[in-house]
Amino acid sequence: MLDTLTQQPPDALLALIKLFNADPRGDKIDLGVGVYRTGQGDTPVFGAIKAAEKCLLETQDSKAYLGPEGDMGFVHALMPYIFGGEDPSKSGRIEGMQTPGGTGGVRLALGLAKKAGVGRIWMGTPSWPNHAQIVADLGLELKPFAHARPDGTVDMDRLRGTIAVAEVGDAILLHGCCHNPTGIDYAAAQWDEIAALLAEKRLLPVLDLAYQGLGHGMDEDAYGVRKVLASVPEALVAYSCDKNFGLYRDRVGALYVMTSEAGQLAAALSNGHALARANWSMPPDHGAAAVRIVLENPAITAQWLDELDTMRARMRQVRARLAEFGTAGSVDLRPVGIQNGLFSVLPLSSEQILKLRSDHGIYMAGSGRINAAGLTMGNIDTFVAALAAVSG
Ligand code: LMR
Repeated sequence: MLDTLTQQPPDALLALIKLFNADPRGDKIDLGVGVYRTGQGDTPVFGAIKAAEKCLLETQDSKAYLGPEGDMGFVHALMPYIFGGEDPSKSGRIEGMQTPGGTGGVRLALGLAKKAGVGRIWMGTPSWPNHAQIVADLGLELKPFAHARPDGTVDMDRLRGTIAVAEVGDAILLHGCCHNPTGIDYAAAQWDEIAALLAEKRLLPVLDLAYQGLGHGMDEDAYGVRKVLASVPEALVAYSCDKNFGLYRDRVGALYVMTSEAGQLAAALSNGHALARANWSMPPDHGAAAVRIVLENPAITAQWLDELDTMRARMRQVRARLAEFGTAGSVDLRPVGIQNGLFSVLPLSSEQILKLRSDHGIYMAGSGRINAAGLTMGNIDTFVAALAAVSG
């Protein structure tokens, strides 16, 4: 039977990692997969994580199984950062579980939505390509709508129209902050309106918060999630620590479930546990345990927040520098300056993207998405000159 299987293309984003590594050019530039890089081009382990790992090494006395919910100390330690002062967990309507990365959180959120009877997922496009893959793999119907306008601003009219035609029982997937791939986020007033519309229309929000702290700050980046949760009866939040704790390959994430009644929460969560058991049984422990230690220890917490501030400041600096160029050939770089997080999409054709790779050793996603963290004050001029050369 296995003979019937046909060759599948490798995941385009992950394939870029291998292509980049295989390129022998010394001056190549990696703007592909979404990992943060320092001004020297490295992706080091956070000092706070190193400190927590040291502590973990010294104090961990067992590696026996925990259960499908993972490390609940980790899950609870994150909650004040995500949900803020008005922590809805205090109402007994919200609880979480650990997942393998943010992807595991999204997978579980959509799986749970399906189990609860959701058939259609509305999603702004472009989006992170894996969102659509997960929706398709679960056999859910994807209903796309344009996320942004060509001028680089959020298309609120489309979103309003989408919510107007969506039906009770549909879910809508929204990026909490640092939209992947566009970097175009909803402003606070727009979140206020979205939250009210979702509440009125009784859609199930699935909020993907994968870059908290990389946009404007931990609280600022959680504004939308907090606003929506304060307005609607029920919601699902997929969370990732892969970027804001730099734990990429350790796969650290969570799913939070908010039900309309506190009495429903245990039953809803038990479905998450059952889905997790059938999918991966239990999430990997190490990275989540390290995050828990970071958040339990005030000195290490302060160190982590400091490191996050440095990352955010560098992203702002790179974005501001790119915007200062104005244009490069036909590419307007000014919107990049006001976009958030690691990513922006440049209006380039497939041919131009391939030419950047073959002639200039510059690697970016086929959508024109750049990971701005791959730019440094040392290579940004080269990048802009190459952009001008291929698009001029
Ligand atoms: C990205 O979009 O580059 C990251 O989220 C990594 C991934 O898993 O695709």
